[in-house]
Parts: sequence; C-alpha cells; structure tokens
Amino acid sequence: LQHLLTTEGLPAEILLQILDTAETFVGVTERDVKKVPLLRGKSIFNLFFEPSTRTRTTFEIAAKRLSADVFNLNIAVSAQSKGETLLDTVNNLAAMDADMFVVRHSQSGAAHLIAKHARPGIHVINAGDGRHAHPTQALLDMFTIRRFKHEFHNLRVAIVGDILHSRVARSQIHALTTLGVPEVRVIAPKTLLPSRVERLGVHVFHDMRSGLKDVDVLMMLRLQKERMQGAYLPSSEEYFKNYGLTPEKLSMARPDAIVMHPGPMNRGVEIDSSVADGGQSVILPQVTFGIAIRMAVMSILAGQQV
Ligand code: CP
Repeated sequence: LQHLLTTEGLPAEILLQILDTAETFVGVTERDVKKVPLLRGKSIFNLFFEPSTRTRTTFEIAAKRLSADVFNLNIAVSAQSKGETLLDTVNNLAAMDADMFVVRHSQSGAAHLIAKHARPGIHVINAGDGRHAHPTQALLDMFTIRRFKHEFHNLRVAIVGDILHSRVARSQIHALTTLGVPEVRVIAPKTLLPSRVERLGVHVFHDMRSGLKDVDVLMMLRLQKERMQGAYLPSSEEYFKNYGLTPEKLSMARPDAIVMHPGPMNRGVEIDSSVADGGQSVILPQVTFGIAIRMAVMSILAGQQV
C-alpha cells in the first residue's frame, strides 16, 4: 500500500491487516509503553486545510508514538495566502525531505491530486477530502465495532443523518460492506441522501423508529452545514424532533446496541446529551482507538510493521 486515500475498493484483507495491526498498538499503549521506534527518522507533515480536533491531534500523537518527527503546517500563516498553489506548497515541503503527508482539504480529490504528483517514496494519507472520503475515520469506526461486537457478519448497522454531505458515511459504507456486514441501513430525510444511494448496497429508511428497529450499531452524523451551500436546511428543533437520537428512539434498537459518532457532535440537534453521555455510547473510545488505527496506517505505509 503506497497511499491511503479511500476505503472504496480496499480488499477485506487490507482492512483487516490495519485493524489487526492497530490491536497490537492498543496492546502496546495498554502496557504503558508510549513509544515504539518504528518510524524513527521519518518526517511526517500534517497539512490541515480544514479545521480538525480529533483527526489532526490523533495523527500527531500516533506519529510521535512511532518516534517520527512531526510537522504541523499552520495554513493560516502559510504562503497559501499569497497565492501559492496546493501542489507548489506540497512540492516545497517534499523538498524538505518529507516522507509522509497527512492531508485534510475541503475539495474532494485533494489528497488524490497530491498522491498523483508526489515523488516516488512519499506516502499520502487522506484525512478527509470534501464530501468524498475519510478512510482513517471509517477504519477506527470498524475497529470500535469489532472491539465491542467482535464480529461483522451478524450485525445490523444504521448510519443516521446527513449522509449526502458526509465523507465519513461514504467511507463507513464501503468498509462495512467489504467486511461482510449483512445489513447496512441509512436513515435520513430524502434531502440529505445522495441520489441512488441504494447502489452502495444499503437499505434506505426515512423514519427513525422503523430504521432503528433491532439494530446493533448506530452511527450518528451531524448536519454538515459547511458543505450545504444553499440547500434546504431544517431548523435544529425540527431536525431533532425527527432525526435526533433520544433515549426513546434508541429503545427501538437492540438493548445492547452501541452508539457511535465521529464528532464533532451537535448536542440537541442530532443527539441528545443523555444518549451521547449514556451507557451505550462508545464515542470517546472511538477517539482513543483513532490513535492505534493511525499508528497502524502509518507503519504499514512505511513498511515498518510490529
Ligand atoms: N471525526 C473527525 O474528523 O473529527 P475532526 O474534524 O475533529 O478531525
């Protein structure tokens, strides 16, 4: 694997290799060993052209735990503001002996563009591009599901909310179907679903209560207003009434169902605080597992396995 740009088309063996490698890193950190020397001497550049709390920070922690040197480009004070193109910026950083770029960008395809033009030997990881893909988020979600549910082949999983604008949902759907989840549901109003979403192998529901019936895993999404540009936007109250996850709606799912959210959450819009902080929520473990998953991805790309 040279780059990680999407989960679409990645075979199950590679997805499972990443999950299994992440397990070894969880084992390492659970033994209070904070650092391993796998990427010593490697230079990893975090290029976040869009805001991030979880992804940027966990990539930095993961790189440091692998003993790499990490550089966070401060986009706000970079030469981008003077008109430099994305490729020129990246080529200049590559000339500083970069080994890996972790890229988040509002434009779908930005990480692919960088990967296409990167000199041989450089690895590119997509940390979220437009509404297209967010592969490491999907991988940490698969890791979380496997940790709590152990298997994929007997699960009913529901992805709820703004599927249309969500790079997370796309990457989750590809990973879930590849890993053999037999029933993936999407629950959303028609206005927040891509046209012909069924082609991705999902079952479509517009009603929360019927869509959540007997599910094992709920994956909630926020309204991604920054990508809506002129589309009809329901009020927060209206959205919460129909699609906000409350204890009452959650009771339609299996009693041992887990509740996930990639963050950032909008409490009182897509999820009630009593559910976000409740006993079925695994939202914070998701964040923690993101470190091991990103360690796994970076070490596999660099060919440095445990
Ligand atoms: N899940 C996710 O991508 O969160 P951040 O935007 O905080 O990185």
